[in-house]
Amino acid sequence: MRTLNVELADRSYPIRIGGGLLADPELVLPFVKSRRVAVITNNVVGPLYLRAFADGLKARGLTVTEIVLPDGEAHKDWETLNTIFDGLLSSRCDRGTTLIALGGGVVGDMVGFAAATYQRGVPFIQVPTTLLSQVDSSVGGKTAINHPLGKNMIGAFYQPRMVLADTLVLNTLPERELKAGLAEVIKYGLIRDLPFLEWIEENLERLLARDADALAEAVERSCRNKAEVVAADETEQGVRATLNLGHTFGHAIETGLGYGVWLHGEAVAAGAIMAADLSRRLGWLSDTDVERVRSIHERAGLPVKGAPLGADRYLELMAHDKKVADGTLRLVLLKAIGEAVITAEASQADIRASIEACC
Ligand code: NAD
Ligand code: GLY
Repeated sequence: MRTLNVELADRSYPIRIGGGLLADPELVLPFVKSRRVAVITNNVVGPLYLRAFADGLKARGLTVTEIVLPDGEAHKDWETLNTIFDGLLSSRCDRGTTLIALGGGVVGDMVGFAAATYQRGVPFIQVPTTLLSQVDSSVGGKTAINHPLGKNMIGAFYQPRMVLADTLVLNTLPERELKAGLAEVIKYGLIRDLPFLEWIEENLERLLARDADALAEAVERSCRNKAEVVAADETEQGVRATLNLGHTFGHAIETGLGYGVWLHGEAVAAGAIMAADLSRRLGWLSDTDVERVRSIHERAGLPVKGAPLGADRYLELMAHDKKVADGTLRLVLLKAIGEAVITAEASQADIRASIEACC
């Protein structure tokens, strides 16, 4: 088992990574506040992993409420959030109840938001089951639901008590989801960790073949990057925004097409290529650099062209981005491969040109 820590003073917490961890309830027990927990999952992950996990907790003397949500990004909304509250209230879950999110980023983001608000805040634990959630969304305390006008627009910063990433569960993940997770892995290399990017370039085939050691290494190195950034800037006043490379373009694709049509990681991949193209227009990246960004995403089986929404629609959707300040759109771009910046330097004409060139 590999362990990392997210250093946030009295809210610091461990990330435990390894194959088969889900079968060991002892790992969770020290982070449960009282004897009462609610395990919240969805109707795809539940049939695979809920029974054994919940029974393991019950065998350790815990009272377990089980809540099963509908699957998918299209259900990351108020209605599904209310299903969580319905389940908690009807089971009389009190303020000492620890919520456990068992699932991908959709479940994790919603359970985190439920934990932040149920009875003004209860503890929660992340048990991420997709590659994307293991390398990104389960760490750092961003929780949210979507609004029809924008992705993740309603939410809170609320840190989990621990993250338990069992890499064995990635064996049941659909191929397309595995590839979507790789987009966020590649992101860390592009924004701040050139040696990691080189490692990914060398080990991409092993990752795609689900080699256990390669996946554990990718999860650990990704989480280390994420933990460092979150420790430096928990509430995204500055450097944390660099974790959103490709996300402003990507969120426009997700919102523009309707949630769930493109996977989040797919949209981020196409967005990262648009960001690289725009960085070239600002004179920061060479043609060779842009080709390197395109090529690694292509090798990972990710989209290398954005959805054809039209530049006007992209710009309209991008104007809702959370990085807009005083009406000015700020983007995460690359000063170099391995070095991201947050900038308002790109002109509307250049942004438009990159959208048109990359879609
Ligand atoms: P997801 O949660 O929809 O999971 C993808 C699919 O895989 C779902 O159908 C799910 O039920 C299924 N699944 C999950 N684990 C499985 C397993 N082990 N075996 C088989 N199937 C499994 O999607 P995701 O990619 O995990 O997360 C995307 C979400 O994460 C988006 O809503 C995005 O906004 C959010 N996100 C949040 C952060 C953050 O910092 N909070 C960061 C990145 C992404
Ligand atoms: N995924 C972006 C962040 O956590 O800040």
